[in-house]
Amino acid sequence: MVERTLTVRVARIARQTPEILSFELAHPAGRPLPGYQAGAHIDVHMPGGFSRQYSLARADGGDASTYLIGVKREAASRGGSASMHARVREGDLLPISAPRNTFPIHAEAKRHVLLAGGIGMTPLLAMAQALAREGADFELCLFVRSEEHLAFADALREPLLAPHVRVHFDDGDASRKINLRQLLAVRRPGTHLYVCGPGGFMQAVRNAAAHWPEDVVHAEYFAAPADAAGGTGKPFVLRLAERGITVPVAGDQTAVDALHAFGIDIPVSCEQGLCGTCVVGCEGEGAEHRDFCLTRSERAHKVALCCSRAKGDELVIAL
Ligand code: FES
Repeated sequence: MVERTLTVRVARIARQTPEILSFELAHPAGRPLPGYQAGAHIDVHMPGGFSRQYSLARADGGDASTYLIGVKREAASRGGSASMHARVREGDLLPISAPRNTFPIHAEAKRHVLLAGGIGMTPLLAMAQALAREGADFELCLFVRSEEHLAFADALREPLLAPHVRVHFDDGDASRKINLRQLLAVRRPGTHLYVCGPGGFMQAVRNAAAHWPEDVVHAEYFAAPADAAGGTGKPFVLRLAERGITVPVAGDQTAVDALHAFGIDIPVSCEQGLCGTCVVGCEGEGAEHRDFCLTRSERAHKVALCCSRAKGDELVIAL
């Protein structure tokens, strides 16, 4: 079951870079849209039947009158980004989900380091704006090819934000690339790290921050890593604690599929463990977590049913 809760009007489309368009989305009747915390994303249901997650690229100032997203046209587009670029026009109506946040700012941090590769800047830009308003200690480092590939340049130049922004243009020249290992070599106490970008960039940051405690490194993935385990494996039983029933999950089924076959629909969106739509409560430590959206502490009591399975023969969930 795909979650669709709102319809918005495309109020404005602007070219940010040769590959990135921004879309400003408004309530069709001009009413405020649901509020959100920086780092949140929405699902956008677009022409052609595609559905994709896009981060909200602007901090909610308290009146979320519009949402701003950035869409990069991927050379290897499976249809989603191509549809947004070629078929969506100002004035069109688009169904979207309400904002969800699986990439929040950790308020307990004394300092925040935000690392973005290319279009991965969108959630981090919103987070940087929110941190700037709070007067927090933070740094936003953007890694892009060249100046013409830098999206949302106006927002980055805002006086409140600009002193915290470092942009690294590599221009394809390896000698100009920032050394991530140097950047992350020393972690000041209380620092949290947030990273979003293409798969290779994410892995490079994770390697460079391998000595950082796991629970201070936060990542937002666009797609499951190539070596992700997926949602199938050995058979197990789902025990639904509230209903008092069990549902068998075959080896070639996901938990979501098994529940659906049993007449119980779980909302899904990405079906890759990225967006958090299918997350439910779980009991004990019985889950083999395969998602990319839950934190370690959340995994103690939640599970993403589109991809995760039982470690053993049974998984108890709060349904
Ligand atoms: S549907 Fe996106 S995490 Fe499961």
